[in-house]
This record gives sequence, structure tokens and C-alpha cells, in this order.
Amino acid sequence: MKIFLDTANVASIEKYNELGVVDGITTNPTLLSKEKGNPIKTMKKIVEIMKGPVSLEVVAIDYDKMLEESLKLAKYGENVVVKIPMTMAGLKVVHSLTKKGIKTNVTLIFSANQALLAAKAGATYVSPFIGRLDDIGAEGLNLVSEIVQIFASYDISTQLLVASVRHPLHVIEAAKMGADVVTLPPDILDKMIRHPLTDKGLDSFLSDWKKLEKDNPDLAF
Ligand code: G3P
Repeated sequence: MKIFLDTANVASIEKYNELGVVDGITTNPTLLSKEKGNPIKTMKKIVEIMKGPVSLEVVAIDYDKMLEESLKLAKYGENVVVKIPMTMAGLKVVHSLTKKGIKTNVTLIFSANQALLAAKAGATYVSPFIGRLDDIGAEGLNLVSEIVQIFASYDISTQLLVASVRHPLHVIEAAKMGADVVTLPPDILDKMIRHPLTDKGLDSFLSDWKKLEKDNPDLAF
């Protein structure tokens, strides 16, 4: 399963890129609004520093303007994936971009029907927002399971990108279901790295090594 970072924070992207576990980035206007500076420059910088796919979102809602924005975003770099909202105009844009060979990520997916239609229009990725479904008392992971089943039944090549991830268990469950990608806020990746037993075990190893150093003053690797 691929792991994308769900952030527009350049420092974070640089930091986690060095771990070798991040395959791509997803951004949106809300994530960009949390960062200082010009959002266009930020998007271009992210495209430059990240080798893998970077989702950049349009903000127009009508077909012509959305297509125009998409074509501009696609020029930022070969790794750009244009993020398009799941609307009727959005599907039409996805269809047009697909014919031009431009990759797309259909966002704000809340039902399996929406995912199916986005895939039929040619989406490279579909992004179900599972945390937001959980927020309203639905089971976001059920949607992941439905989409996995439908895409497998018809050999659909669109990748399922699980978004709006709120905790590490979401990641494990999405991975078990066979999701292609999860996109994670950096704090969730931190939580996946850490385990109290790892910290405890490391403390013991270090204190035992200190004892060895006492008995062997010249100890060095
Ligand atoms: O890519 C954006 C998506 O992950 C939204 O997450 O936490 O705003 O529901 P959230």
C-alpha cells in the first residue's frame, strides 16, 4: 500500500521524505490555508521537492474554469495529479483530462456510486473521506470495503486513495482491505512510528549499554 502525506507544509514534507516511506502528497485549499506564504508558490515548491504524485486541487466549480485551472496546475510538473471535486462538472473535467493523459484525483467521495462514476470517467484516484463519514455516525471503512469489492469485480484500474484518516487503526483496516493508498496527516504517521514498548525496550538497551561502558572504559564501535 502506498502512503501519501496529507499536508501542504513544506518542512514536514522535507522531513518525512527522508524516511523513505512517503510515496506522494495530497493537498487541498484548507491545508494550504494553514500555511504561511503564497499558496501558488507553496504548491510549486511541493511539486519540485516531491518525486512522487502530488495532488493539487482546483477551486472553480464550473466546467470551463475548472478545466482551465486543471491545465494550469498540470503544467507545474509531470508528477501533478489534478484534484477535482465529485460533481457533474467535475466528472466532465476528469473525462476531458483523461483524454489528454492528465492524472486526476476525484475528491469528496462519500458513496460507492460516486467512486464508480469517477472511475468510469477515468479518474486515476478516487478519495473517499472516511473520517468525515465517521463524524456523522456512518462507518467510513465500510465505504472503503465497498469500493475495493466493486473495483476488484470489474478489474477497474482507478486507485482507491483513502483520505480523511483520523487514527492509525484506519490505516491498518484500510491496508487489510486492500486500499491502494492512504493519505495521512503527519501526526498520524508519527503515531504509526511510535510504540510505548519500543520506547521502553530502547531505554533498557541504552541503560544496559551504559553499564557495559562502566566496566569497559575503552568501549567503542
Ligand atoms: O485530503 C483531505 C482529506 O484527507 C480531508 O481530511 O481531516 O479534513 O476530513 P479531513
